[in-house]
Amino acid sequence: MSLPLLQVEKLNKTFQGNNDQLFRALNDVSFSVEAGECVGLIGESGSGKTTIANIVAGFVTPTSGDVVYDGQSLIARNCGKNARSTMQMVFQNPMNSFSPRMKLGRGIREGLNYLSSMPRKEQEKRVDEAMEMVGLPLSYKNKYVFEVSGGEAQRAAIARAILIKPRLLLCDEITSALDAEVQDQLIEVLRKLKEEMNMAFLFISHDIKLVRSFCDRAFVLQDGVIVEQGSVEQLYEHPENEYTKKLVNAAILNLIE
Ligand SMILES: Nc1ncnc2c1ncn2[C@@H]1O[C@H](COP(=O)(O)OP(=O)(O)OP(=O)(O)O)[C@@H](O)[C@H]1O
Ligand SMILES: [Mg+2]
Repeated sequence: MSLPLLQVEKLNKTFQGNNDQLFRALNDVSFSVEAGECVGLIGESGSGKTTIANIVAGFVTPTSGDVVYDGQSLIARNCGKNARSTMQMVFQNPMNSFSPRMKLGRGIREGLNYLSSMPRKEQEKRVDEAMEMVGLPLSYKNKYVFEVSGGEAQRAAIARAILIKPRLLLCDEITSALDAEVQDQLIEVLRKLKEEMNMAFLFISHDIKLVRSFCDRAFVLQDGVIVEQGSVEQLYEHPENEYTKKLVNAAILNLIE
C-alpha cells in the first residue's frame, strides 16, 4: 500500500502562556491525508487548528511529534523548503494576502518566486491559467487588492497558491470572512481544483456544515485533542462525541436563524 501524502504523528505543542505557565495547545494529534483527498479539521476557536496548519507549513516547530510529507520527515533537520515545494497554504483574510502597493498580476506571480529560473513568458502563462482556473478575469491583473471584493481577493490568493501546481493545499478558514453566497462560489473553485488537478486539502473550518459539503473525511479537535473522526456524513448525521454533537447542533441552529 502506498504511503499517505501527509502523515501527522503524535504532534504536541506547548506554548509559554501568561504568567510563564506552560500551555498545551496540541496533545498527541495524529492523522493522515491521502493524495487527492479532502480532509476537514473542525473545532472551536482556540482548539489548535491553525497551530496544526502552521506546523505542517513549517511556520511553527512542534514540541514533539513528526510530520511526514510525501515520504519525508519535515521535522528532521535540513528538511524544509524543498520538501514542502508541492504544498501551499491559503489564509483567512484575503485582503491581507496581497501588498496594497502591488497590482494583483504581480502579486499572484510572486507564487512562482522560488522558480525564478522559469522564463517570464512561461510565468505569465501560468498566472493566466491559474486565474482562469479560479474564475478571475485577466483584467484583474491591473487592479490593486483594495479595488476588489473579499471573494475576488481570495480567488486571487488561491490562484497564487496553485501556480506551482501543489499536491496539497492547506486552507485555514479561507471562507470565514465571506458571506454565504461567496463561500459557496469558493467551494466550487476548490471542487474544480480537486477534480481537475487531483489536489488534496486540509480544510480547516469551525463550520461543520461547510466541511460536510466539501470534505471526504474530517476530524474534530477539542482543546488540542482529536475527539472524533470519520466520514463527514457519519460525523454530521451520527456524531458520537458530545463536543461533535454540540458543533452539529450549533450548525443546525445557524441554519434556522
Ligand atoms: N505563538 C503562540 N504563543 C502562545 N500561545 C499561542 C500561540 N499560538 C497559538 N497559541 C494558543 O494556542 C491555542 C490554539 O490556537 P490556534 O490559533 O491554533 O487556535 P484555532 O483553533 O486556530 O482558533 P481560531 O478558530 O480562533 O482560529 C490558543 O489558546 C492560542 O492562544
Ligand atoms: Mg485559527
